[in-house]
Amino acid sequence: MSPKIVVVAGATGNQGGSVVTALVNHGGYVVRGLTRDITSAASQALTARGVEMLQISVMDREGLVEAFKGAYAVFGVTKPFTKDNETDQGKNMVDACRANDVPLFVWTSLPSATKLSNGKVTGISILDDKAAVDQYTQAVGQPTVILHTGSFTENMINQNQLKSTAPGKWEIQFPIAPPDHVQPFSYIKKDVGPAVTAIIDHWEDASWRQRLTKEPIIMCSYNLCGKEMAATLARLTGKEVTYVTLIDTIPEPAKSMFIFFRDYWDYPDPIPPTILTDLGIKFHTFEDYVRDKLVQFMNEKDSA
Ligand SMILES: NC(=O)c1ccc[n+]([C@@H]2O[C@H](COP(=O)([O-])OP(=O)(O)OC[C@H]3O[C@@H](n4cnc5c(N)ncnc54)[C@H](OP(=O)(O)O)[C@@H]3O)[C@@H](O)[C@H]2O)c1
Repeated sequence: MSPKIVVVAGATGNQGGSVVTALVNHGGYVVRGLTRDITSAASQALTARGVEMLQISVMDREGLVEAFKGAYAVFGVTKPFTKDNETDQGKNMVDACRANDVPLFVWTSLPSATKLSNGKVTGISILDDKAAVDQYTQAVGQPTVILHTGSFTENMINQNQLKSTAPGKWEIQFPIAPPDHVQPFSYIKKDVGPAVTAIIDHWEDASWRQRLTKEPIIMCSYNLCGKEMAATLARLTGKEVTYVTLIDTIPEPAKSMFIFFRDYWDYPDPIPPTILTDLGIKFHTFEDYVRDKLVQFMNEKDSA
C-alpha cells in the first residue's frame, strides 16, 4: 500500500511547521506543504527535508482542489488580519476536501466570541471567523477534528512579549491580563505537531473517530499566570523579571479584543486535555520553553 498523503497548510509557519516536523519525524506519510513562495528559505528548508512543497494560496479555490488530490488528511490553518477573510480561507480548504473526499480535515480554530459571551461581545473576527468554518465543516459533512489553541508560548519572542529594560532586567509585557490571571497556553512547536500526527494515526479506528469528533479539542499545553511566568524565568535565568499589563497603552479595536480574552476566554479543565494525553501526547511546559529558548535568547541580548 502506498503511503498516505497529508497536506499541511501554513507549512512554513508556527503550527504548520510543527505539524510537518512531527509527520516527517514519525515517517510513513507523504507530506505535502503549502506555501505562497516556493523559493523562500523556509520553503526550501522543508523541501530539503523531503516535504513536497506546493506554491499556492488558500484563496486559490481551483488550485486547492488539485493540491488536495489523493490526500488522506489535510491540516488547515488560516491567517487573520490580511486582505483575505479568514472564513473564506477556511471554507476554501473545506470545499477542496469535499471535492476530493478527503477522509480527515484537522482544523485549528478558536471558539466563537459571540457564543462564549452569550452575545454580549460581537465582532471579534479572529474568533468568530474561525468558528464559522467549524460550522461549515458540519454543514457540508466534512469529517473534521477541530482544535482550539491557547496563547502561543512562542509569542514571548515572536510577538516581542519579553523585553529587556536594562542589562539583567526583563519585563514580560502582556496585553491585558493582570499578574494572577491564569491563561491557557499552547507550546506550538513541541506539542501541536505530535497531537495532529496522533490524531491522523488513530483516524481509522472508529471508536477514536467518534471521540475525536465529539467536540473541539482543547489543544493547550498548560495553564499559567503572569506572576508564575516571571518567577519561573527569574529562577531559571538568574535575572530580574517582572510581569506588566499594558491595558492603558493599547488602542482600540485591539483593546476590546484583549479585554474579551481576559474576561471570557476560559477553557475547561483539565489542561492538557485527557483526550490528547490518552493518545500518548507528552505535553511541554513553560519551563521547557525557558530552557529550550529563553535562557539563550536572554543571555545573548544581555551580553550584546
Ligand atoms: N499567536 C497566538 O497566540 C494565537 C493564539 C491562538 C490562535 N492563533 C491563530 O493561529 C493562526 C496562525 O497560526 P501560525 O502562527 O501557525 O501562522 P503563521 O506562522 O503566522 O503563518 C503561517 C503561514 O501562513 C502563510 N500565509 C498565508 N497568507 C499569509 C499572509 N497574508 N501573510 C503572511 N503569511 C501568510 C505563510 O506562509 P508562506 O509565506 O510560506 O505562504 C506563513 O508561514 C491564526 O489564525 C491565529 O489567529 C494564534
